[in-house]
Amino acid sequence: MIHVQNLTKIYRSPKKSGIFLKDLFNRTYEENKALKNISFAIGEGELVGFIGPNGAGKTTTMKILAGILYPTSGKVDVLGYKPFDKKIPFLKDIAFVMGQKNQLLWELPPTDSFTLNKEIYEVSDEEYKKTITELIDLLEAKEFLDRPVKTLSLGQRMRAELIAALVHSPKVLFLDEPTIGLDIFAQTTIVNFIREYQKRFKATIMLTSHYMQDVQRLAKRVIMIDHGSIVFDGKLDTLVAKYSAQKIVRVVVTKQLTLNEMQLPTYVKVEYHHPQLSLTIPKDKVEDVIQNILSKIDYVDVTIENEPIEDIVKKKFEE
Ligand SMILES: Nc1ncnc2c1ncn2[C@@H]1O[C@H](COP(=O)(O)OP(=O)(O)OP(=O)(O)O)[C@@H](O)[C@H]1O
Ligand SMILES: [Mg+2]
Repeated sequence: MIHVQNLTKIYRSPKKSGIFLKDLFNRTYEENKALKNISFAIGEGELVGFIGPNGAGKTTTMKILAGILYPTSGKVDVLGYKPFDKKIPFLKDIAFVMGQKNQLLWELPPTDSFTLNKEIYEVSDEEYKKTITELIDLLEAKEFLDRPVKTLSLGQRMRAELIAALVHSPKVLFLDEPTIGLDIFAQTTIVNFIREYQKRFKATIMLTSHYMQDVQRLAKRVIMIDHGSIVFDGKLDTLVAKYSAQKIVRVVVTKQLTLNEMQLPTYVKVEYHHPQLSLTIPKDKVEDVIQNILSKIDYVDVTIENEPIEDIVKKKFEE
C-alpha cells in the first residue's frame, strides 16, 4: 500500500547576507537534510504510529507521501502511484489532516466545506449522504455544524476538520497531530473515532502525535524517526519489553506508616501521600519487594503498572 525506499529530502532555502544587491545577484543557499535515506513499507489496513521529537522529519515524510512535497531522491509509492504526480484517482483515495492547520472555510459553517469537498471529489449525492451521516454520528458533531468555523472550539473544529477530510471516503489517511492542543475529553473522542473509522472502513492510517497515549491506544506498530533517520520500526510491545526497566506498584494502605517501618531496599523509589503509596521497582525485583512489604503493612488495594510509555520512548531516543 505504501512503499518508501531510500527517501531523502533536502530543503534548500536562500541564505541572506544582509546586503541587498549581493542577495539579489549572488544568491547562496542553505541546505537542510530533513530525511536521510529512509525506507519502510505499510500494508493495507495497517495503523502505524509515526513518532519522533520536534524537527525529526515526520511532517516532511507525510507531505511527500501525500504528494504535497517533492522528494530529493528515493522511491515513493502510495497505492501504486507516485504521489507527486497528483493523479486524480490517487488524490481521491488519500486524505491529509493537520491538527495545526485549518483546512475549513473560516467564515462559513463546516457544512459548506463538506459540500465543497463533495463537489471537488465528485462524490454522488447518495454516497455523500451516507458517509456524512455516519461521520457526524461517530464524531457526535450534530449540534455545531451550522455555526461559522471561527466560532467553534478547538475540539469541535478538529471534529469538523476530520469530517471534511473524509467526505470522499479515502483509503489512506495521513493524520499529523490530530489531537494537538485538545483537552482529555476531545482527545479521547478523536482517538476513539480514529479506531472506529479504521475498523469500519479498513483504512490504512499513518498517525503522528506527541501524546504517546494516543499512539499506544491506536497503533500496534510504531516507526520512530530522529534527525531524519529511522531508529526503530516494529511492534510497540517489543519496544516496551526491551526498554521498560521498572514497574510501578501502587498500594492503598489502611494505617499511617513511616518510611522506616517499610524497610524498603534502596533501589526502590518511594512516594507516599497517605493512604497512597507508590513504589517504583526494577522489573526483576517486583515480586520480592511486593511480598516483603505486603507482609509488613495493612493495605486495601494493590495495583501494578508499567512504566509510563513516554519514559520508555524517551529512553530509546536517548540511546
Ligand atoms: N519549508 C522548509 N524549509 C526548510 N526547512 C524545513 C522546511 N520544513 C521543515 N524544515 C526542516 O526540516 C526538518 C524536519 O521538519 P518536520 O516538519 O518534518 O519535522 P517534524 O518531525 O514534523 O517536527 P514536529 O514534531 O515539530 O512537527 C526540520 O529541521 C525543519 O526545520
Ligand atoms: Mg510535524
